[in-house]
Amino acid sequence: MNLVLLAGPGHPELAHATARALGVEPGRCRVERFPDGELQVEVEAHVRGADVYLVQPTGPPADPRLMELLFLADACRLSGAGRVTAVVPYLGYARQDRRTRPGQALGARLAASLTGVAGVARVVAVDLHTAAVEACFPVPVEHLSAVPLLAEAVRAAMGEDGVVVSPDLGAVRLAERYARDLGLPMAVIHKTRVDATAVAARGLTGSVRARRPIIVDDMISTGGTIEAAVHALLDAGARSEILVAATHAVLPGQAVERLAPLRIGRIIATDSVPAPSGPPLPIERVSLASLLADAVRRLHREEPIRDLVPSR
Ligand code: R5P
Repeated sequence: MNLVLLAGPGHPELAHATARALGVEPGRCRVERFPDGELQVEVEAHVRGADVYLVQPTGPPADPRLMELLFLADACRLSGAGRVTAVVPYLGYARQDRRTRPGQALGARLAASLTGVAGVARVVAVDLHTAAVEACFPVPVEHLSAVPLLAEAVRAAMGEDGVVVSPDLGAVRLAERYARDLGLPMAVIHKTRVDATAVAARGLTGSVRARRPIIVDDMISTGGTIEAAVHALLDAGARSEILVAATHAVLPGQAVERLAPLRIGRIIATDSVPAPSGPPLPIERVSLASLLADAVRRLHREEPIRDLVPSR
């Protein structure tokens, strides 16, 4: 099967960088919207019998990006593609992998089921919110990790007085990986979510006094979690040169404005989603292009990718 890489409209820069790293030209496709908001896509590349890799993060915004992915996958299938793999550097709805209250929908499972319906045969994802999200998909998920790339970037910026901080209980396993990789101690903040944008830090376990914190998380969305963590760390006597490392810097709405006054020294994130607009933040982006290209190359050749996936 020929390898064809298609760049969805969710993140053309990353898709093109991945294609360059693979040494291929991205296949042509058109994505248009009618005035009433309906989507129309057309895959112009020759995909009949091909091994197609469709690069498209599903957010932000989550719904249009998901629909574009589904339509492109369907178009590939209807054009006779041999196999369609969705390369989803950031997966929207991943945080809805369980219901926290009766009456809620299970967004992650629904979005994942739709990819199967659209003809996606396999998904490549990066640092999913939890490993449980994999189980929402009706097709195999190749779950890559950007943590080694981010930890390398953090290592270059840290000294022996660092402390890895998990900003909530959900990020403890992730923080353990960073702490192990960096050879640093760890602290955990006890966070309560008040609503979609507000969180409160209820306590801190571990010693951060006079240490330089490295807050690690899978994603920064509204910035509420990081904001609460920064205040809790400063209250506990940590040094003010704070570094944040997160795979996905989603930063919708007013997130950039919210983070800017916190005077965070550095934010190290990947380019899993396009860079946000707004006042300048000290964000350094580590590109996922070579990781994605490596995964695509090996999957196309049916080679193992075990060393690219997170250790559990
Ligand atoms: C939560 O469980 C996640 O790991 C992140 O901490 C959270 O999604 C970040 O969201 P926000 O920036 O809106 O607080």
